[in-house]
Amino acid sequence: MIKSIVKKVARKAGFVPLSEVNMWDRRKSNLLNFQYKATDKEWRQLMMYFEIINAIEDVPGDVAEFGVAAGISLVSFIRILRVLDRGKTRDEPRKIYGFDSFEGLPELSSHDSATDQLRSSPEMKRGGYNYPESYPVLFRYISSEPNAELVKGWFEDSVSVFFKNNPHVALALIHIDCDLYESTKIVLEHTWDRLSPNGLILFDELHHPGFPGETVAFREFFKDKPGQYTLHNIKSLPAKRFLIKKQ
Ligand SMILES: C[S@@+](CC[C@H](N)C(=O)[O-])C[C@H]1O[C@@H](n2cnc3c(N)ncnc32)[C@H](O)[C@@H]1O
Repeated sequence: MIKSIVKKVARKAGFVPLSEVNMWDRRKSNLLNFQYKATDKEWRQLMMYFEIINAIEDVPGDVAEFGVAAGISLVSFIRILRVLDRGKTRDEPRKIYGFDSFEGLPELSSHDSATDQLRSSPEMKRGGYNYPESYPVLFRYISSEPNAELVKGWFEDSVSVFFKNNPHVALALIHIDCDLYESTKIVLEHTWDRLSPNGLILFDELHHPGFPGETVAFREFFKDKPGQYTLHNIKSLPAKRFLIKKQ
């Protein structure tokens, strides 16, 4: 009884049960599931990653993400880069580096407390965004990707060591999704000089009321760099921001 009411409501809302979709090819079911079931927000998120990777097409350098967690954005970048690079004569495909403790967030600072606690994520605490059950799948996937590499550790230890040991690395895209003041500051301080002219920084929480630390770190770091970048909204997800480093 309840099942049939739910079905009726779902059908009215435009959902077609997969069993009734013309399954000309069962292998397409993942895509069909995604098309029908993914929310607009999920569609927008994927479109945002596409928009960003598309925007670095002519910018030399690799991709570095700070804040990987279970790998939603990292794996999206890997897949989209693979699609866009296909058929091109790129001698050296871009590398993608993913930095994370894989133990969740470190201690929060005073800059990280949202004025309205209701608007900050319940994960905003030491150890938040830790998904140990997802790491084996991510680690296995990355180990089979020749151009991807995970850099495990706390940024305060790992980031400076990585760039010291890899003086050749230039970046076309930096993705900052580490939520916190100290983490964002460390990343900006160690990566800005490595970002190529016209390179992008995608911020996940810039101007987000629930994660004020990222915005404070951004403001402090760029205070003495006026005119060195331009700030933009993402078309597919206007609440998200990215900057382009001027030449
Ligand atoms: C919101 S999650 C990242 C979400 C991910 N980009 C996605 O698409 O699902 C934030 C991540 O930043 C990492 N993180 C934040 N500060 C860090 C630090 N100082 N050192 C290492 N990892 C850090 C946490 O471990 C956590 O996995």
